[in-house]
Amino acid sequence: MAKRILICSGKGGAGKSTVAVCLARALMERGSRVLLVDCDAGLRTLDLLTGLGTEAVYSWLDAAAGRCAPADAVLTESGSKRLGLMLPPPAEAALPDADAFSAVLDAAGGDFDYCFLDAPAGLTGFVPTLCRVSDAAVAVATPDAVCVRAASTLSSLLFENFPEHEIRLLLNRFDYARMRAHESLTPDEAVTQSGIRLIGAIPEDPRLTGLSEGVLPAAATRAAFQRVAARLSGEEVEFKARKVRANMF
Ligand SMILES: Nc1ncnc2c1ncn2[C@@H]1O[C@H](COP(=O)(O)OP(=O)(O)O)[C@@H](O)[C@H]1O
Ligand SMILES: [Mg+2]
Repeated sequence: MAKRILICSGKGGAGKSTVAVCLARALMERGSRVLLVDCDAGLRTLDLLTGLGTEAVYSWLDAAAGRCAPADAVLTESGSKRLGLMLPPPAEAALPDADAFSAVLDAAGGDFDYCFLDAPAGLTGFVPTLCRVSDAAVAVATPDAVCVRAASTLSSLLFENFPEHEIRLLLNRFDYARMRAHESLTPDEAVTQSGIRLIGAIPEDPRLTGLSEGVLPAAATRAAFQRVAARLSGEEVEFKARKVRANMF
């Protein structure tokens, strides 16, 4: 069964959707199959970022409500069944409870190794349901006190009752020069302030803004996602300074 990983942040714009897609691709390069589930009702993003979904008919809510089979709500990349995508319903839709949503994920995720739940911003609404159905979480935060605190609040509010959950911090838009100039938190500070263990740091990369146009991330960014993918797969990858500063983590 696919391991369900919640990609969350508390704060909007931290890079959850970008991370979900790039981390999925990094896991695919390692041979894994990943089902992306866009959970932001009314604000679908992952169809644009993956290039899938132009012919989408059903959302995961249609599957939960029995209007289609779960497999019919999964879009896949032509020629490869390694990336799947489920789209969200419109904003006004009544969302399923944890049992109904979980049943859809079980049925749809059978052919996948990982199921990434790309969460909406905030701590309320569908987010508590997403926490309940997840096995683990990656809290995405930019290296500033506000965003790191939001990740920390999310983790303590929503995961205190789920000690079996693994939650890890992923710093996004990390910029070594800004850190050196004391304009952003260091990874150590982010870990101390959030109380969450680090899984990696993704550099600031303007190319990521072009993801929906098919622009590939910079090599250092792809390497950073590869290291996170390896850690997510259970590999020990050292956090050590390298020659290329952007490649530190
Ligand atoms: N590492 C990064 N470097 C530069 N821009 C980034 C990076 N990560 C995300 N972005 C940009 O930040 C914006 C918000 O990202 P997005 O993934 O939509 O956030 P969220 O899903 O958390 O709301 C997008 O314009 C995206 O291209
Ligand atoms: Mg998003």
